[in-house]
Amino acid sequence: MKMKIALAVAGIAVFGLVGNASATDAAAAEAMMKAEKCTKCHDVAKDKKGPSFKTTAAKYKGKADAEATLTKMLTTGTADHDPVGSKDAKAIKNLVTFILAQ
Ligand code: HEC
Repeated sequence: MKMKIALAVAGIAVFGLVGNASATDAAAAEAMMKAEKCTKCHDVAKDKKGPSFKTTAAKYKGKADAEATLTKMLTTGTADHDPVGSKDAKAIKNLVTFILAQ
């Protein structure tokens, strides 16, 4: 019985940690944008060669498939957009969440 309670508590603790880890990490997203050279063409607030992430977030606001659409676009690339170099699904998800939160 005691064992079961201990396991339940451990489960909640792990769940809590995962919950935190999935919150947007802005510093990691910004570091990734620099490393992937996104900042050459994008800025959070200003349109450069590519649209600002504020523009993109506004465009996708309220769209349920926004995260899936951008994840696909970034991982497979488009005609004039190279795919991201990173294969780290968690980091890509963090970047997409960050963009959509602008
Ligand atoms: C060489 C310039 C260039 C680089 C580097 C670049 N982009 Fe873009 N990006 C563009 C242009 C131009 C567009 C608009 C046309 C298009 O969607 O292809 C765009 C569009 C986008 C959009 C909006 C797509 C939509 O559906 O509205 C997102 C999000 C985006 N880029 C993210 C990124 C990220 C993240 C990186 C880095 C991994 C990156 N871009 C690197 C030029 C660039």
